[in-house]
Amino acid sequence: MVNPFTLPGVNYYGRGALGSLGPELKNYKAKKVFLISDQGVASAGLVDRVAGEIEEAGAGVVRYLDVTPEPTVEELEQCLEKFRDHDCNLIIGLGGGSPLDVAKGVSVLATNGGSILDYVGLNLIPGKGVPKFLIPTTAGTGAEVTKNAIFTDTKEHLKKGVVSIHLLPEVAIVDSGLTYSVPPGVTAATGMDALTHAIESYTSPRANIQTDLYALKAIELIGASLRRAVSFGRDEKSREDMALGSVFAGISLANAGVGAVHACAYPIGGQFGTGHGETNALLLPYIMEYNMIGDLQKFANIARAMGEVTGKLSLREQAELACKSVFELSRDIGIPQKLSEFGIRKEDIPGLAEAAVKVTRLMDNNPKKLTLEEVEACLFKALD
Ligand SMILES: [Fe+2]
Repeated sequence: MVNPFTLPGVNYYGRGALGSLGPELKNYKAKKVFLISDQGVASAGLVDRVAGEIEEAGAGVVRYLDVTPEPTVEELEQCLEKFRDHDCNLIIGLGGGSPLDVAKGVSVLATNGGSILDYVGLNLIPGKGVPKFLIPTTAGTGAEVTKNAIFTDTKEHLKKGVVSIHLLPEVAIVDSGLTYSVPPGVTAATGMDALTHAIESYTSPRANIQTDLYALKAIELIGASLRRAVSFGRDEKSREDMALGSVFAGISLANAGVGAVHACAYPIGGQFGTGHGETNALLLPYIMEYNMIGDLQKFANIARAMGEVTGKLSLREQAELACKSVFELSRDIGIPQKLSEFGIRKEDIPGLAEAAVKVTRLMDNNPKKLTLEEVEACLFKALD
C-alpha cells in the first residue's frame, strides 16, 4: 500500500528554537508580518518577544490578538478582514491551537477567496495560501504540523474541519521554552489532547510503519512526562518531552487521522462550549475500552509505551491495562471524569451520539466500527 506522508516545510524544535525565526523571515523576504495570537499569550509576554524577533529581522509587524478559544467562522472572517487592511506578505500564528488554526484559515482564504465553509472536508482548497509560520506555545494540539483546521459553525452548533495540504505551514518552530508559563489546567488538557492524537492515530486503520514510529514515541514521552509538566511547570525535561511528544503526535495524526474520540468531542464542544483538549481527555479512556478489541496487540503496545509492566499478562489483559493507565493519568492531572461535570444531562446523550456518528470522516477512521447504540452506551457510561 502506498502511503503519502506530509510534514511542514521545515520544523525547528528544541529549547531556543525561536532563534530560527529571524533567518527564516529573511529567507521568505518578509516585509510586513501579520502576527495572529490572543490576549493570554500576549500577557505572558510572548507576543512582544516574537514581535521583537520580527523587527530585529528587519520586517514590520501588525498584531491581531483577538482570537478566542474554539474560534468561530465569523471570528475567522474578522481576522481575514484585518489582514486585508494591511499589506502583509507573511502570517505568523502564535499560541495554542486556536491562533494557529486562525492563521491557517486566513492564509488560504486570502489567496483562494470564498468562505472557510466552502472548504470543509478533504482537499477542497484549490491553491497555496500566503506563507505562514506557526509557533505553538502549548504542548499541544500539534496544529503546527497538521493539515487540519477546526472552526465552530455557530449556525449549526458544530465544529467543522478543513483538511488540506495547503494548511501545512512553510515553517514550524517548536520551542519548549515558550511553554513554561502555561498553567497546570491547560498543560493537562492540551497534553491529553496530544495523547489522544497519538493513541487514535496509532490505532487508526490508516496507521502505517512511519506514523507508528511517531505515535509510539509520542505516547512514551507524554506518558513519562505529563504528570511532572502539570505538577511543576518549570521543569525543563518534562516541558521538552511534552513539546516533542505533541509534535510527534501531531505528525502521526496528520498522516493517519484520528477517530471516535474526536468525532464525539466535536458535537459536545459545539453544543456545550467545552474545550477541545478537555473534552477529548475525558472521552479518551472510555472510548479506548470500546475500541480495544479492534486491535488488542496495538492496545497492548500502548500499555507498554505508557510505562506499564505487562509481564505475563494475557494480550487482552495488557490491552485493558492501556485503558486503565490512561484513566489513572487523566485522574492524576485533574481532568474532569464525567460528562455531567460539563452540564450534560441524560436527555442530551441521544442527540450527541447521533451527531457524533454523522462525523463519518472520523468515525470511519476508528479501529472498531461503532454503532449508534454503542456510541450512546459509551457516552452514558461517561455521563455520571
Ligand atoms: Fe485534538
